[in-house]
This record gives sequence, structure tokens and C-alpha cells, in this order.
Amino acid sequence: MTTFAVAQLPAMTGRTVVVTGANSGIGRATARALAARGARVVLAVRDLVKGRAAAATMTGEVDVRRLDLADLASIHAFAEDVTDPIDVLVNNAGLMIPPLGRTVDGFELQIGTNHLGHFALTNLLLPRIRQRVVTVSSNGHRAGRIDLDDLNWERRPYRAFPAYAQSKLANLLFTAELHRRLTEAASPVLATAAHPGMAATGLLAHLDDEQSLLHRFRTAISTRLSQSDEDGALPTLYAAVADVPGGSYAGPGGFLEGRGAPKLVGRSRTARDGTLARRLWARSEELTGVRFPLATAR
Ligand SMILES: NC(=O)c1ccc[n+]([C@@H]2O[C@H](COP(=O)([O-])OP(=O)(O)OC[C@H]3O[C@@H](n4cnc5c(N)ncnc54)[C@H](OP(=O)(O)O)[C@@H]3O)[C@@H](O)[C@H]2O)c1
Repeated sequence: MTTFAVAQLPAMTGRTVVVTGANSGIGRATARALAARGARVVLAVRDLVKGRAAAATMTGEVDVRRLDLADLASIHAFAEDVTDPIDVLVNNAGLMIPPLGRTVDGFELQIGTNHLGHFALTNLLLPRIRQRVVTVSSNGHRAGRIDLDDLNWERRPYRAFPAYAQSKLANLLFTAELHRRLTEAASPVLATAAHPGMAATGLLAHLDDEQSLLHRFRTAISTRLSQSDEDGALPTLYAAVADVPGGSYAGPGGFLEGRGAPKLVGRSRTARDGTLARRLWARSEELTGVRFPLATAR
């Protein structure tokens, strides 16, 4: 098994890394580790107060910028604002099983934030990215089904977990198709993905009603089975810096990929469906109005 730890991260001096959702959980731990190794890290957050509080826990060069992935105008504004080259983009932000909600542009909240927001962000930043795009998915992708005719749950009755699983499957299909397109464009940039296993973060904090059975069950499970956000960030860091091929997917190497040192892991058969990946890409371009910006190499 790999022994990959924060202490083994290479020096990142002179590199710029953008991490979405960097004010808490996996994103904050990822940003903190990279800043400590010398990277200039941009915390891309929807709440600047929370972003600045997270930055105060980090050493190194850390910049806080506003990015609301549930608003295409905010994504365009962020991309226009970041004019320097970016070495690594970490598409980490996400939300899980909220009640039915819509982004500013009318997308269902989970596919809109977790996939379409990062889709638009990546393609807008891509001409300035030099090394890697890392997208954070989940073991939950295995339960995912993509409905290209109803990505936004307008025809089907909304179900929160299938909507989360769809968005996390979309993260992997996006990575696969991005990898294919980057290869076709002879780009040196690699597209990789990661999942943190089970990490005790704020992802389900919105469910918290301390009296509820669900809260007590969740607390019991997370105390016994979850790893820390620092350990949960290791697969993301591995996908960001380790010598791995484009299209790779990293996760914890322990029991059921729930925790443990990172390694390359498998994905569902649907996540390996290249035709579906291309069709999702085309649908995502239609919905966001943002296209792949690089020309095919001749
Ligand atoms: N924790 C786990 O066990 C687990 C397992 C599998 C996959 N994951 C994945 O890991 C990633 C990070 O989650 P986490 O566990 O670290 O949860 P977390 O602590 O809740 O962090 C999620 C981050 O995403 C941000 N975010 C949500 N909506 C946003 C938006 N519209 N625009 C910009 N940022 C937004 C949140 O900002 P606010 O603080 O402002 O809400 C927060 O910073 C997610 O993609 C999640 O699916 C986590």
C-alpha cells in the first residue's frame, strides 16, 4: 500500500493552486497542506467571512476570493478576476442531500453546484491551467444514474440521495471526458479525480437536529468509522501531485475505501462509459453556455 502523507508532499514553491469550497472540511485541509508546502493557494469560497477565518488557520501565501458555484455569473466573475497562471485547480466544493433547491440559473442544487458549476469553472480557467484539474467525487457515485433528459429533476420527483449520486457520477464522467479532450488537444494538463472515503466534515451538518434519531445515528457512525478531514484530504492531494496517469481516480486504500492511505481505486461501470461521458459533456455545454476552450491538435 502507498504511504503517502502530508509530510511527503513535494515543495510547491512558485505554484498556484485554486481550491473550491476551501473554507471547511476536505477543501480546507487540502488548501492548508499545499500552502504549508509553499504553494500560493486561492481559497475559492462563497462566504468571504468563512474564507478569511479558514485562511487564518493556514501558514503561507493564501488569498481568499468569492466564488458561488450555484451562480454562473459568479463563476464568470471569478474566472475573469484570476488572471495569473494556475498550476492546479481542485474542484472540491459540494453539498449533499439538501431538500430540493435551485441554483440562480435554475439547475437542481446538487448537479448545479457539484457538477455544472465546476464544469463551467474548469472550462473558463483551462487556458490558464498548467498542470492538473482534480475533481472530488464520492463512493456514492456507484449508486448514480445520469438522466440526460432530466438532469435537473424537473420531470422526476426529486430524491435527494439519487440526485447526490448523479452529481458525483457526473464528476467522474467529467474527469474522463476532460482527460480525453486534453489528450486530443495535446495539452500537458492532467485531469484526475479523488474521493475522501468517509471523513467527519460539515457535509451533513444541515441535517442536524440534535434531538433526531438520524443525528444520533450519524454521530455514532461518524465517530466510529470516519477519518479526520486531514486524512480525508490525502486522496485529493495524491491526485494533485503524485505521478499518476491522466484520468486516474484516487481514494483511501483501507476497508471498503472508507479510510486509509491513498491509492488509485476503481470506479463503477457507468463511470467508465465513454459515450455517456461525451453526451453529458455536450449537455453540460448546452446548459451552462460554456465550451471546451482548447483546439484539437493536428
Ligand atoms: N466528507 C465525506 O465523507 C465525503 C465523502 C465523499 C465525498 N465527499 C466530497 O468531498 C467534498 C468536500 O466536502 P466536505 O466533506 O469537505 O464537506 P464540507 O465541509 O461541507 O465542505 C463543502 C464545501 O463546499 C462549499 N460549497 C457548497 N456550496 C457551494 C457553492 N454554491 N459555491 C461555493 N462553495 C460551495 C461549502 O461552503 P459553505 O461552508 O459556505 O457551505 C464548503 O466549503 C464534496 O465534493 C463532497 O461531495 C465528502
